[in-house]
Amino acid sequence: MDSTQHSQLPETPQSYWLASTEQTAFSSIAEDTTVDVAVVGGGITGITLALLLVEEGKKVALVEADRLLKGTTGHTTAKITAQHDLIYDELCHHAGDEMAKLYFDANAEALAFIRNQVAEHRIPCDFAEEDAYVYTTSDANAAKIDKEWAAYERLGIPGRREDRLPFRINSRAAVVMTNQARFHPVAYLKHLLQRFIDKGGLVYEQTTALSVEHGSPLSIVNTSTGYTIACDDVVSCTHFPFYGVRGFYFARMYAERSYALGLRLKNEYPGGMYLSADDPPRSIRNVTYNGESILVVGGERHKTGQGICTIKHYEALEQFARETFGRDCEIAYRWSAQDLTTLDKIPYIGRASKDEPHAFVATGYRKWGMTTGTAAALLLKDLIMGNENRYEELFTPSRFYADPSVKTFITQNANVALHLLEGKLEWVRRHPDEVECGEGSVVQVDGKRAGAYREPDGTLHLVDTTCTHMGCEVEWNNGDRTWDCPCHGSRFSYTGEVMEGPAKKPLKTYT
Ligand SMILES: Cc1cc2nc3c(=O)[nH]c(=O)nc-3n(C[C@H](O)[C@H](O)[C@H](O)COP(=O)(O)OP(=O)(O)OC[C@H]3O[C@@H](n4cnc5c(N)ncnc54)[C@H](O)[C@@H]3O)c2cc1C
Ligand code: FES
Repeated sequence: MDSTQHSQLPETPQSYWLASTEQTAFSSIAEDTTVDVAVVGGGITGITLALLLVEEGKKVALVEADRLLKGTTGHTTAKITAQHDLIYDELCHHAGDEMAKLYFDANAEALAFIRNQVAEHRIPCDFAEEDAYVYTTSDANAAKIDKEWAAYERLGIPGRREDRLPFRINSRAAVVMTNQARFHPVAYLKHLLQRFIDKGGLVYEQTTALSVEHGSPLSIVNTSTGYTIACDDVVSCTHFPFYGVRGFYFARMYAERSYALGLRLKNEYPGGMYLSADDPPRSIRNVTYNGESILVVGGERHKTGQGICTIKHYEALEQFARETFGRDCEIAYRWSAQDLTTLDKIPYIGRASKDEPHAFVATGYRKWGMTTGTAAALLLKDLIMGNENRYEELFTPSRFYADPSVKTFITQNANVALHLLEGKLEWVRRHPDEVECGEGSVVQVDGKRAGAYREPDGTLHLVDTTCTHMGCEVEWNNGDRTWDCPCHGSRFSYTGEVMEGPAKKPLKTYT
């Protein structure tokens, strides 16, 4: 914001999708249980897969560490589209036209699956067809739009090339994918969840899956409650896989955060879903639910735990929203979330590693999990049922394309190694007494680096800043009041509880 304007952001971050629906309240697991499949993680991937498997006659337990849908799925912008930013020209070059077309088909089929579910079961979730645009305001990026459009034409992707947008945005070029869609993801998934339960599916919340002991005939999932789940197959739909040391997922993905605002506009929205190809990116879409219209404006990006003062990202979005949609729009919601990107930008979906035939993962959706999470559920259902699926090879986590993976692999790891050292070498002088009400800061306690947050009423919370995943030092996120790890994206509340993995244990606290 410029110096003459005051930010009018909501005080507390809250996702519109969660605020407009009721939270679930299932019990934790309270006895050792045996099922055919343990599906771990209650986001779009886990819930969709759990339903598909009970429909095939499997006995399924859906296991969630916190409350269902409160993870990334509850904090998305929920465009349902195969237009994943500018990806097709790049995929054609790195993986070939055939793989690029498969990638499109898998996502288009996922969109068709959601469309059919909504129509067949009359799900009230604001599903509506929209064209999806990627645009640029820079002449330099216009050439990339042209290349992407050329890839659409070559691959037979339905769309068109345009120049202008129906807003006050100085667009230079845009590529449009037609007949894509939007929905309210939590309303949609709660409907799928109810059908899962009606078919006898088991749901356990506040139950963290800690580890898997592979056995024959059954594997055992150990949980935070002390009770176990014995199963033929186990699937990690936990965003970052909760196991998989053999798959080296922590070294093959990075977490990137983005931000969103929910606005009430004075003027009517002209329709369409938009994403800029510029840096920082901007994303726009509308939702109408319970008689209310909310415009979701998203964007900004940085690696988790490596951002500037994070409230600045919200302020940048606010400025963009007011410039584009009018100074008098009301900002009703703000929230942020992160997603994971793989080395070659294609998700890892399939067997966790070659020597774990009954353990599966689905991760690395690069902020496009509405379709890829659904595609993952469709593919994993087939793998578990022993069916052929033409997308198995495209998504298999054990692939390794030499170019450009190797270069990215080295860059990502150098970055993590740097952060492993960085916080540890930092000389912290600040004392907890100097931390003001509502402030969070790295401080020194007994000569060691610690994290302090003081609540508005003066209560001080002190945590050990060493991440319980692999020992990097967490950093304060002032926009969301969390401790975020720069290495693999774990996030902790100011009292130290795990909010997002791969860490499973809380930060140590000082009393
Ligand atoms: C800002 C932002 C905007 C986005 N916008 C879009 C968009 O417009 N369109 C689109 O297609 N995609 C979008 N995405 C991406 C999409 O939201 C995600 O890819 C998708 O929601 C991921 O779903 P998931 O089921 O894999 O994970 P999640 O929804 O994160 O679910 C994983 C669940 O597993 C639980 N869990 C974790 N560890 C354990 C454990 N050990 N035991 C038990 N449970 C555990 C978590 O608590 C969580 O509930 C966006 C992402 C972001 C960050
Ligand atoms: S998330 Fe891996 S060290 Fe913190």
